[in-house]
Amino acid sequence: MSADLVIVANRLPVDRVELDDGSAGWRGSPGGLVTAVEPVLRANDGTWVGWPGGTESDLDPFDHEGLHLVPMSMNAQEIQEFYEGFSNATIWPIYHDLVAKPEFHREWWDAYVSVNQRFAEKAAEIAAKGATVWVHDYQLQLVPQVLRELRPDLRIGFYLHIPFPPAELFQQLPWRRQILEGLLGADLVGFQMPGAAANFVRLVRQRVGHKTHRDLIYLPDGRTVRAAAFPISIDAAGFEELAQSEPVGKRATAIRDALGNPTKIFLGIDRLDYTKGIYARLRAFSELINDGHLDVEEAVFVQVAVPSRERVEQYKILRDDIDRLVGRINGDVGRIGRPAISYLHTSYPREEMAALYRAADIMVVTPYRDGMNLVAKEYVACRFHNDGALVLSEFAGAAAELRQAWLVNPYDINGMKSALLEACQADEKEVTRRMKAMRKTISQHDVQAWAESFMTELAGDRFMHGKKVRPVKRS
Ligand code: G6P
Repeated sequence: MSADLVIVANRLPVDRVELDDGSAGWRGSPGGLVTAVEPVLRANDGTWVGWPGGTESDLDPFDHEGLHLVPMSMNAQEIQEFYEGFSNATIWPIYHDLVAKPEFHREWWDAYVSVNQRFAEKAAEIAAKGATVWVHDYQLQLVPQVLRELRPDLRIGFYLHIPFPPAELFQQLPWRRQILEGLLGADLVGFQMPGAAANFVRLVRQRVGHKTHRDLIYLPDGRTVRAAAFPISIDAAGFEELAQSEPVGKRATAIRDALGNPTKIFLGIDRLDYTKGIYARLRAFSELINDGHLDVEEAVFVQVAVPSRERVEQYKILRDDIDRLVGRINGDVGRIGRPAISYLHTSYPREEMAALYRAADIMVVTPYRDGMNLVAKEYVACRFHNDGALVLSEFAGAAAELRQAWLVNPYDINGMKSALLEACQADEKEVTRRMKAMRKTISQHDVQAWAESFMTELAGDRFMHGKKVRPVKRS
């Protein structure tokens, strides 16, 4: 096997699952990375290296619905130490503003190093001469460096799908320098936001000691690495088409019927993650009912929480907290056949998501910190009648583009209550004006545009800087 474009990500776009008849099958993987990168792979006929979930080993490369997939196995200890541990209990909270407390364990780091090494070796094995390898996300930050050592002929890109923290937080990491050096194996390091790219360049200058100029980093081996923002997006036209389809339209009507045809449906769809601000938004909604601003006969909040990282302690705690809160709110303010919150702990296929987006009058996206948030963009793409209101956290990357949303600070419950009420009571003209503007933005900056700008930049002339730079200092 030899591929001209290799995508390397922790997860494959499909998860291995057991079907009802006991046989093995595949289901779409959760999260924004897969939503965004899958259409890119499809359009470019590349090969995707990643973990199919579970502990099965010796899975052969296979094709699935036109995608070439190379499964990487992980044993139970690696899942615990590399995936649940270092990736999701160390890096994830640090990169998300310490919304939860990170844990530091040396064994977790060792597992991170060895799994990264293995992913890099696999990419090196299957990439054709001079191929492009595009490495994705925080689980694989050491892959670019290992890969460059193994295969200096490759063009290597890296893209981070989550925020990159300011130096003040990043430097808590005992392995901060190794991670920066790992990323510097790439020719191009892409981030969601310009601030994240600037944080990275500053850290490289301070912690590794390389010379930098704006978004360029000059390495002692003569290479120039660029670090820049490429805000990610969705397949906007694909989502709109799906939303316009007859089955989705019918399903949206059926959802409204099943909810008792309330005047206003509020909707939240998130992975069940503590960065998403689910607890705070449900509280804000329930207080509006308590205060008499909303009535359960007329308004309902549908919250879909997609199961995620269920064995990580902080996620277990969150699940219990949300279960309790939903039970309490419904017990306190619900009436027979009229719960205030319709809570679904499950994941849905794209068609059902599109139907929910069509059915909802107010979409509520309130993360404490989020690299981009593609759910907000999906909602906008599905509102082809230019109706529907979006309440969006200032701390989601998407807020930089979707300026016409009702922007909120999720730490400010009263502010969030006012925004929810305003969005709910806004007149049609106002809602349309805002939605139209946001739809224009999304249609111009879709995922094809994102991939194209990254790939064009990566394929561009890579110059050796020819500057005299000092060897790096040790810190
Ligand atoms: C986010 C991350 C992805 C991750 C996804 C789902 O979108 O950026 O890298 O794959 O969440 O999380 P999981 O831990 O289930 O892969």
